[in-house]
Amino acid sequence: MRKIIFVTGNSHKVAEASYIMSGIGIKVEQNNCGYPELQDENLEKIAGFGAQWAANKLNCEVMVDDSGLFIEALGGFPGPYSAYVFDTLGNEKILKLMEGETNRKAVFRCVIGYCKPGYEPRVFSGEVAGVIAGGIRGNGGFGYDPILEVGGITFGEMPDEEKNSLSHRYLALVNFAGWLEE
Ligand code: IMP
Repeated sequence: MRKIIFVTGNSHKVAEASYIMSGIGIKVEQNNCGYPELQDENLEKIAGFGAQWAANKLNCEVMVDDSGLFIEALGGFPGPYSAYVFDTLGNEKILKLMEGETNRKAVFRCVIGYCKPGYEPRVFSGEVAGVIAGGIRGNGGFGYDPILEVGGITFGEMPDEEKNSLSHRYLALVNFAGWLEE
């Protein structure tokens, strides 16, 4: 079975990627070594840079994942700053910012960066459209899952298998897997 090192500190991302990639015969193994996070508006650039840096450091093929929640009424905020905003504001304060807002559309984007040592990185993206829920709902998933509603329920309320069959991460990994198979 082909194995790809997933450089991330986020075990939820690893669990989701392992589940999705095992379906196409690829084993995902976590490495927590980290990489410098480029300050950029563009998730593709952040993921590509991280993958190239980690591949050259570890001297093996790696994947990384950079994701972001883009809320339409907030001009795409928090977007590339989603991790910082989650750590500093959290879901409750995001919901406060959205109080009284009728446009609740949001998109969750995931970009998978892949690189081999000495090569240029490749990036694969996926996105799912939803709405920001009126409150925090569900104990499943992680991060923004309890406030992003897709098809009437939040990712936090969905069974893992359901999130993993339609999420931004699933769609990015399907693109990645398709390219790997070629
Ligand atoms: P990053 O890709 O680690 O920079 O993640 C950005 C932020 O989005 C972090 O706070 C993550 O916890 C959160 N996040 C990433 N993927 C997901 C997801 O699938 N659901 C909910 N939150 C996520």
